[in-house]
Amino acid sequence: MEFRPDALAIDQRYKLLTGLVVPRPIAWVSSIDARGRTNLAPFSYFSIVGHSPMALSFSVAGRKPDRGDKDTLRNVRPVCEGGTGEFVVSVVSRAMAKEMAGTAAPLAAGVSEFQVCGVSGVPASVVRGLRVAAAPASFECRTVQIVQVGIASVVIGEIVCLHVAEGLLDNSGRVRFDGLHAVGRLAGTEYIGLEHRFELEDAGFFPAAPGYAKGAT
Ligand SMILES: Cc1cc2nc3c(=O)[nH]c(=O)nc-3n(C[C@H](O)[C@H](O)[C@H](O)COP(=O)(O)O)c2cc1C
Repeated sequence: MEFRPDALAIDQRYKLLTGLVVPRPIAWVSSIDARGRTNLAPFSYFSIVGHSPMALSFSVAGRKPDRGDKDTLRNVRPVCEGGTGEFVVSVVSRAMAKEMAGTAAPLAAGVSEFQVCGVSGVPASVVRGLRVAAAPASFECRTVQIVQVGIASVVIGEIVCLHVAEGLLDNSGRVRFDGLHAVGRLAGTEYIGLEHRFELEDAGFFPAAPGYAKGAT
């Protein structure tokens, strides 16, 4: 089968992309508005931008049911555009997956998903706002750029502080996946855990591998 995007209805485009680009990690993004009101929502159009500087991206690819901007997008915009230019991405573990899904509800601006969904937050260390208290890891970010691609706003944030739960790293600094229990999104209501991992030989391209050029960033 061959498809041309122009010939596809928007829901078909969505189904094809979200069903074929899997599994997607989930950024549980907490942010705060200029009036100090907290917000929390999941985004699975999410990836690493780079590790030096450490940067992440997620994409706000739609609008609220009332056609207004999603609260997260409003909040992470730079101060000169009415936002605070800061946010926190928390990693979603299996134990908190249900709460995460609940925070996707389209609540009115200023109504906090932390409160409505019963998610505990603690103040972030460097940026304003809360991070998810029970998350195995969180990344505090400052917005570097927001790239517009049609109706999608790709938010790029530089990480300014990381939080990693006690015991999650092994002696060599690697993450113990058995302690992370991260959840990925498939399509619709389907999610996936990290239970079915397998290994492949390392071809020597990892920046952490022995022999990788010293000073390479
Ligand atoms: C697991 C999951 C992943 C999601 N990923 C995205 C995404 O990548 N981009 C997006 O625009 N919306 C995504 N959504 C929908 C938003 O979470 C939803 O629109 C939410 O109400 C936005 O909240 P806000 O207005 O407080 O920012 C996702 C929902 C779920 C449950």
